[in-house]
Amino acid sequence: MSTATLEAMRGLPGLHEYMDELEGRLHEVVSVHGGLVSVVGEEALSAGGKRLRPLLVFLSTPNGEQPSIAAGVAVELVHMATLVHDDLIDGARLRRGRAAAWSTYGEAAARAAGDYLFARAFAALAEAGNPGAVTVLARATLALARGEALQRSQQGDPATSVESYLERCALKTGTLFEAACILGAGLAPESRLGDFGLWLGVAFQIADDILDCADNRSETGKLAGTDLREGTPTLPLLLAARQDEVIRVALAGGPSEGALARVAATGALEESREVALDYASRARACLNGEVFREELEALTHAVVNRER
Ligand code: IPE
Ligand code: IPE
Ligand code: MG
Ligand code: MG
Repeated sequence: MSTATLEAMRGLPGLHEYMDELEGRLHEVVSVHGGLVSVVGEEALSAGGKRLRPLLVFLSTPNGEQPSIAAGVAVELVHMATLVHDDLIDGARLRRGRAAAWSTYGEAAARAAGDYLFARAFAALAEAGNPGAVTVLARATLALARGEALQRSQQGDPATSVESYLERCALKTGTLFEAACILGAGLAPESRLGDFGLWLGVAFQIADDILDCADNRSETGKLAGTDLREGTPTLPLLLAARQDEVIRVALAGGPSEGALARVAATGALEESREVALDYASRARACLNGEVFREELEALTHAVVNRER
């Protein structure tokens, strides 16, 4: 993320306290059962991360109401669960600057730890006693799984349409951002913050896919080039593949050596950035006098202009 944007938000009244309490609660909720899954979960937790989804909960909370810690904990744990499973699926060895769970503890432990984190997320939210909130999170979690399944069906296919790529981004990333905003807004039916989150999440995922095409000096704490190596047709890769046969062959499972360097030469990164900016602006159009309107708007810029 643009660090400047997150830094600037630090001083928001109540945010520091919210994030502190959130962190403590996350550790409690993850460590409570002990055993290997707790150890794996604790490690993933202490590796950090931007805590962007709890930040959305905070920023979506209406004036005069307390931002929900349970909602922040639940969305961050669902996110972490998907990351633990996602790295296993993607064969990605580095996460948050550390070895991914599966590469340290093996596939079975990573699968179990991801399941455990999902279970803890729902338990934490259920304790808050709001069944509507649990329903929102359940819907988002189902969408995440559908997004990963859609991605699997697109694997190795350079002819994947931009439309189905965008559907995948909405499912696997947008819906959790959407849920964070809906939970923050207290499920208020008149709020458009859910749509805001959905479009913000799509922009965020496109930016992530652009970062994956960058060189290894990036600050993401992940290894670049994973998408091409795995044949995942992201927007920059599928646009580049239309112009460059070497990239098309690499995406279809052929040799990928040197292919990443050619992506930038096609202009696909700039083209993808334009699409991300378009989604960011759609997100902005959903804002309407929220307490933290300015900060939410700043996020729409930051998710595209980010280094991590
Ligand atoms: C990574 O999310 C997964 C995507 C949706 C691209 P984040 O970039 O928010 O991951 P952390 O929590 O900061 O590590
Ligand atoms: C996002 O996709 C993963 C989830 C939403 C679970 P990526 O596979 O691009 O995420 P990173 O790059 O591994 O963080
Ligand atoms: Mg991945
Ligand atoms: Mg990625």
